[in-house]
Amino acid sequence: MLILAIESSCDETSAAVVKDGHEVLSNVIASQIEFHKKYGGIVPEVASRKHIEVINPIIKEALDQANVGFKDINAVAVTCGPGLVGSLLVGVCAAKAIAYSLNIPLIGVNHLEGHMYANFLIPQSPSPQFPFIALLVSGGHTMIVEAKDHGKYKVLGQTRDDAAGEAFDKVARFLKLGFPGGPVIDKLAREGNPKAVDFKRPMIEKEFHYDFSFSGIKTAVVNLVMRNTSCVMRVEDIVASFQQAVVDVLVEKTIKAAVNHNIKTVCLAGGVSANSLLRKQLKEAGEKEGLAVILPSLEYTTDNAAMIGCAGYYRLLNGKVADFSLRPSAILKL
Ligand code: KG4
Ligand code: ZN
Repeated sequence: MLILAIESSCDETSAAVVKDGHEVLSNVIASQIEFHKKYGGIVPEVASRKHIEVINPIIKEALDQANVGFKDINAVAVTCGPGLVGSLLVGVCAAKAIAYSLNIPLIGVNHLEGHMYANFLIPQSPSPQFPFIALLVSGGHTMIVEAKDHGKYKVLGQTRDDAAGEAFDKVARFLKLGFPGGPVIDKLAREGNPKAVDFKRPMIEKEFHYDFSFSGIKTAVVNLVMRNTSCVMRVEDIVASFQQAVVDVLVEKTIKAAVNHNIKTVCLAGGVSANSLLRKQLKEAGEKEGLAVILPSLEYTTDNAAMIGCAGYYRLLNGKVADFSLRPSAILKL
């Protein structure tokens, strides 16, 4: 079973060929980051236009790298939300055209579900066993999900304001460290002291409560820097302390969710799952509680089509095929 997968929900245009749901034959990603950098964030209109320019060559490249042609493809999976609607539209239209012309199934995939399935791709082994708790942390979302089976998810908690990735991006922008902020802060924090500033860990104390709030930590960083204009503090120490506060909350709530629901497996997903401290701390804390902690392979942490191909495979197995009325949704729920 060969699935051609397409992802264009934000600022990456990606196409992949995935065999039998798990084996990635190709995963081509064109990042637009250079075009958005100068604005300090994603400009939706620019994003849609860039997707249109590269979508066809990227699909061709994915087929070429996998050494297959259109005739070999059995189904097309595409991200249909959530995301930027103009960006999503480009991928959805391309997928519809391919499915229609080849007369093969079209599968609409939720981007967040796709991130979770990054944990099912080879070389990840073993694949997560259901039920599991997923910590889904990206630029647009932060949630704890109870995954009961393929396609059966319950959101246990989510952010009430900024997503974790958004907080990294905003803090980095404020400190003029560049965009996207997550990877820069991750790197810089390695040279800093995470105990330099004791930022409040928001909502950490609530036992059966899995919501998050990150805008307060972001504001605390801003206030700290504004108050210390003759700042003697190193930026490395500030970002290390900020990152530590965010990671402490994410890890503690995820482990609590697993323990309180008597679930033995925890998975990490979304762009922020690339964060080195989060990966280390979640693994250590989970294993201390006797949990299996599954981390996605680094190459599948940020937006990519391979994860969409994997999620699409399981949707297809469960008969969840879309028709040509499939429309992108900016606010699609998990
Ligand atoms: O999943 P993703 O690629 O796009 C969305 O679906 O939003 O996530 C992008 C987010 C950005 O906010 C970026 O700063 C963050 O993931 N990110 C990281 C790291 N790498 C990417 N955050 C923290 N540490 C990282 N190493
Ligand atoms: Zn994403």
